[in-house]
Amino acid sequence: MKRLLLSLAILLTSAMAFAGEGMWIPMLLQYNEKEMQEMGMRITADDIYSINHSSLKDAIVLFGGGCTGEIVSDYGLLLTNHHCGYDWIQKHSSVEHDYLTDGFWAMDRSQELPCPGLTVTILREMRDVTDQVLYHVTEEMTEEKRQATIDQAIKDIIAEVEKTTNYKVSIKPFFLGNEYYLLLNEVFRDVRLVGCPPSNIGKFGGDTDNWVWPRHTGDFSVFRVYADKDGHPANYSADNVPYKPAQHLQISLKGADEGDFAFVFGYPARTSEYLPAVAVDQEANVIDPIAVDLRGKILDVYNTYQEKDRKVRIQYASKHAGLGNGWKKWMGVTEGINHFHGVEKKRFYEESFQEWCLASRQRYLYINLLKDFEQKYKELEPYRVAYTYLSNAGLNIEIIDFAGKFNKLSEVTSDTPQEEVDKMLASLRKASETFFKDYYQPIDEEVARTMLAEYLNNQPADFRPGFLNDIKDVDDYVKTLFSKSMFADEEKVNNFIDNFKPSKAKKLQKDPALIAYQSLINFYSEEVNPKMSAINNDLARLQRLYMKGQMLMEPEKRFSPDANFTLRVTYGKVEGFKPQDGKNFRHFTTLEGIMEKENPDIYDYVVEPKLKELYNNKDYGRYADKDGTMHVAFTASVHTTGGNSGSPILNADGQLLGLNFDRCWEGTMSDLVYDPDICRNISVDIRYVLFIIDKFAGAKNLIAEMDIVE
Ligand code: ARG
Ligand code: GLU
Repeated sequence: MKRLLLSLAILLTSAMAFAGEGMWIPMLLQYNEKEMQEMGMRITADDIYSINHSSLKDAIVLFGGGCTGEIVSDYGLLLTNHHCGYDWIQKHSSVEHDYLTDGFWAMDRSQELPCPGLTVTILREMRDVTDQVLYHVTEEMTEEKRQATIDQAIKDIIAEVEKTTNYKVSIKPFFLGNEYYLLLNEVFRDVRLVGCPPSNIGKFGGDTDNWVWPRHTGDFSVFRVYADKDGHPANYSADNVPYKPAQHLQISLKGADEGDFAFVFGYPARTSEYLPAVAVDQEANVIDPIAVDLRGKILDVYNTYQEKDRKVRIQYASKHAGLGNGWKKWMGVTEGINHFHGVEKKRFYEESFQEWCLASRQRYLYINLLKDFEQKYKELEPYRVAYTYLSNAGLNIEIIDFAGKFNKLSEVTSDTPQEEVDKMLASLRKASETFFKDYYQPIDEEVARTMLAEYLNNQPADFRPGFLNDIKDVDDYVKTLFSKSMFADEEKVNNFIDNFKPSKAKKLQKDPALIAYQSLINFYSEEVNPKMSAINNDLARLQRLYMKGQMLMEPEKRFSPDANFTLRVTYGKVEGFKPQDGKNFRHFTTLEGIMEKENPDIYDYVVEPKLKELYNNKDYGRYADKDGTMHVAFTASVHTTGGNSGSPILNADGQLLGLNFDRCWEGTMSDLVYDPDICRNISVDIRYVLFIIDKFAGAKNLIAEMDIVE
């Protein structure tokens, strides 16, 4: 029986490693080449990543600090998601030029809008430096000593390499600290906004459709990278010229059929595929449900007031989106892990791991790992829960969070240099303006009542910030908070800022909102954080060992390191899915679906008149699918995560099929456990993107410079 279990378990895990799972390091892609070609790929690993000649990697960029983009012309033209370009579109928007609402198109290069602060990073080379980084590390070292040794080695190696290059040099851990890779990056600083569709297209479906399939969002925006005359990164200058990449992406108009090979090339931020069962269980069944519950209650309050008042709806739209994104995703994680037995599968695997440990004396290092994990995660749990309450219940009370911005000002004395005080006041003036523009006190009061009650009912006294333990009656406390605190009143706050003197700092210290803020923060820095960090330190060691053990146990298996915001290749097939009995999703959506969803009264489903006109005339030009319809979005079984937004999804020939922008919420557990049956990424079809640029916006200048393959 045991034997059978063991082979079953191994079968299960190697099946898990196939078809879609894994975020692969481009420099090691030759190990995946055979499988990729068997799945249909017609190019080579060397075409994707090479340091000897130009390759697809030269067209892939880290866009800003959190998204991916790709270069699609010899003149530095770049595509990313609308939600990735959103902040920059917003910065350029005003009442006269509302680019968020109306869209924006530069009809020639002189109209492109500079975005100071926005960077685009291109990977030039990767090197394995594991041996050098770990050279002085021994098994006996404490975790602190080990980290210090590694930090020093990394510093030395970077200093050495920097002597020979102008690129930005960094070193990052892979496989939970078992391997280290050096990255040479070029960072471009002159990036300009070229175009974006109206939000009715770029954000169509809004938060209602977020994480959900079927989807109809034209989630793209267009930028251009500029360089100096020699092609090097430079600060913005009118003399800069469009950057000429070593390679740009070709764009395919053929679309993709069910079963076609596809791969995504981009910057996934964070996954945790090698956690033990106990950690996955804690995440999916303790932490995420608490966060979902708390955020759900806040969103209920938002909804009630947003429905009543148009102004409030706009004021709370972005806050709603922020809280709602995590809320929906985590719900999906819990659903997915439980429905698809993520924890059981891990436990099953762990049984075989334990047997492997027991089979040889040399494996003594690993023997207690799983037991230690259980112990440490048990110790960690109350602190993780405390942190979840702190960040979701405590700091989502806006008046408390806003008061926190004045914390430094409350410490000002007559000795503080005037210059420093002036700087603080200037930034607080701005903060106050931003805060009150989108603040609706009845919402905040109700959120405060709800969240504080949740806190008191569910967290034991020694796991609460001190101020909560002084509360006798929540309603009374909230009444006092909002009547006594100056932070509820814009005029009072601004008067305070305008007439500030060091002698008034004491007044702040008596403000109940600031007192609550300090209590939350002190609780975090004195009680929660020190314990969590200590336990996490121990866990880092266990995780590293566990990773190493798994690699030793299955020497034949290809392991892919967890995402860490470095460039990765992930691949799978264009395919639909069946999330539930009787539910069968097709892999693509069309413009028909946009018309089905149309509702002029619901903000998320307003359709642009021009788009309707194109639809009515079926004026799709060469961008129509062979079935005659306009395809809008499609799903694939490619393993992606946050940060992959804007990533190109490419066909068997390495040509652009679309831009990744989301996942289906049923499969968001793929950050912890990937399941090829249910995990799907969502991309906007490149033909829809081109259709909007060409037919909707008439920006033929952009179409002309792209490399389009019919
Ligand atoms: N869910 C996607 C992500 O995690 C898209 C978020 C932006 N879109 C939105 N409708 N809120 O980033
Ligand atoms: N929308 C996500 C992002 O901005 C990608 C979706 C995901 O998490 O897969 O990175």
